[in-house]
Amino acid sequence: MSVRQTLVLRVNDAEREVRPALHDTLLTVLRDELQLTGAKRGCNHGVCGACTVLVDGRPVRACLTLAHTCRGAAITTIEGVTGIADRLRSAFEDANAVQCGFCTSAMVLVAAALVAERPGASIEEIRTGLSGNLCRCTGYRKIVDAVCAVAQGTGR
Ligand code: FES
Ligand code: FES
Repeated sequence: MSVRQTLVLRVNDAEREVRPALHDTLLTVLRDELQLTGAKRGCNHGVCGACTVLVDGRPVRACLTLAHTCRGAAITTIEGVTGIADRLRSAFEDANAVQCGFCTSAMVLVAAALVAERPGASIEEIRTGLSGNLCRCTGYRKIVDAVCAVAQGTGR
C-alpha cells in the first residue's frame, strides 16, 4: 500500500489540498486529482514536453516532477493563464497553429516563459526555446509565427 500525505499546492492562484503518494508526479496530481487535464500525458518519460506547466514561472516537465517537491511553489497550468500566456493562446488561434491540440497547452506555457524572459525574442531564439516540445501535426512554422507575433508585438 502506498503512503499518502496531505499536500497543499498553489495552482493557478488558488490553494488546493491533495493527497498524493510520495512517488506521484505533479502530472498525476494535476490530471487525476485536480482534473486539470490541459497538461497532457504524452510519453510520460520526459521526452515530448506535452506535460509542461510553469512552476514559479519556469517550464517544468510535470511527468518528471514529484508532486511533493512543489510544496510552496506557484504552479500555472493552461487553465489558469493570464497576461502573456493568454495573448499567446489567442495568437495560436489567429495563426492556425493548432491541429490536434495535444501539444498546444505546453507550447503556450513554454512560449510564455520565453517571452517573459526575452521580450522581443528572435525567430531563432523562439525555435530554440520551443525545441524541447514536440508537435506531430503542424510542422512548427505556424507555432513559431504565433509566438513571434506576441514576442515582437505584432499580434492582437
Ligand atoms: S509527458 Fe512529460 S515529457 Fe512527455
Ligand atoms: S497540434 Fe497536434 S501535436 Fe501539435
